[in-house]
Amino acid sequence: MTYTGDCFLVPGPVRMSQACLDAMATPVMTARGPEFRQVMATLNSGLRSAFNLSPSSPTMKSESWTGEDGYKVVVVSGSGTAAMEMVIANRFRRNDLVLVPTNGKFGERVADICRQFCNVKHIKYEWGRSFDLYELEQQLERGCYEALLICHNETSSGITQDAEAIAEMCERHGVSFILDGITSVGGMPVHPEKWKAEAVVMGAQKCTAGPSGIAAIAVSEHCVERIQAIHQQGDSNPRYYFDMVAALKKGDDDQTPWTPAINLAMGWGAALEGLKNETNEARWARCERMASGVRNLFSDLGFMLLADDGQRSNTVTAIMYPEGIDDAWRSALKEKYDTQVIGAQDHLKGKMFRVGSMGETPVQEMVEGCKRMLACFRDVGHDLPEVDVESYFS
Ligand SMILES: Cc1ncc(COP(=O)(O)O)c(C=O)c1O
Repeated sequence: MTYTGDCFLVPGPVRMSQACLDAMATPVMTARGPEFRQVMATLNSGLRSAFNLSPSSPTMKSESWTGEDGYKVVVVSGSGTAAMEMVIANRFRRNDLVLVPTNGKFGERVADICRQFCNVKHIKYEWGRSFDLYELEQQLERGCYEALLICHNETSSGITQDAEAIAEMCERHGVSFILDGITSVGGMPVHPEKWKAEAVVMGAQKCTAGPSGIAAIAVSEHCVERIQAIHQQGDSNPRYYFDMVAALKKGDDDQTPWTPAINLAMGWGAALEGLKNETNEARWARCERMASGVRNLFSDLGFMLLADDGQRSNTVTAIMYPEGIDDAWRSALKEKYDTQVIGAQDHLKGKMFRVGSMGETPVQEMVEGCKRMLACFRDVGHDLPEVDVESYFS
């Protein structure tokens, strides 16, 4: 069946389901009453599932935020960046040294946030190039790092880091491992427990198709212990709204320290219910199917992909424009074809476009979107052969 609607193929915020929109339209409730505590319990249980953690009951007063694996989920009112700042501000002391390898804008942002709260060794690889794991190993051998932080799925350059190999290295060297999982959690395999990750962050508006402005953190028992010890020693970085100790005090009660983002929490809970029904495995597979279709289609047509082969992301594909084409193509795609993809950031602005394959996007929408992209490239004078687009997504 041909898809006829608008194609919204950006790497977040993504389209929200009707169930999510309806949930957000629920009439107001108090922030401390049983109705909202039930909302939090549903959200916590959905978050544990999306984070690929052991299950919890979606019922209030049942410690829905935690489970057998000892991890806790903490909901943050704010976007993904707020949640990353909360982890970093609370987990490190001013004199700690952390290692941050990067290959794109969001990794660089992780390094930037760290710089506000601790010392940073920033190893800056070119956007889209794989990390040199040998170099990271040599750094860890120095024995001076408290933690290694990565942007797991680099949305700016379309590369996914080899988290498993990095996790193994961190474990061997006794270094904490923290991930910005903002465009990986819910869209590709993430294994906090297996990777012994201290903290993983996700944003609602990406792979879980929730509303913008709410995020969550999965924290390990060790992370909680370290945060509490630093707090007790009076060695914490300045923070108030993002005080993790205050958030941890409220968690057992399905509460947050400040007025929560009530309607966003309701919407996200409904979106996560959608993910639970689809299952993580099925969503990861759908994202992979869409991304690999896009990768193969555009590569076969002679387009260059920015990210190194072998580590290309399943939730965002970064494609270089052919010679002579720039973002005017994107404007034409939106105006004439009712199809949106996103441009590039910083030094790659105007040189590249990015296609998101996350959330609840149906495969047929991606197929139709790709047909429209090719038609639009032909409109702007880029000669392309006729191809069977559908066959790339079967
Ligand atoms: C990998 C990654 N990290 C961090 C962010 C920033 O998240 P937010 O805009 O939700 O603060 C983004 C946003 O696109 C992202 O893709």
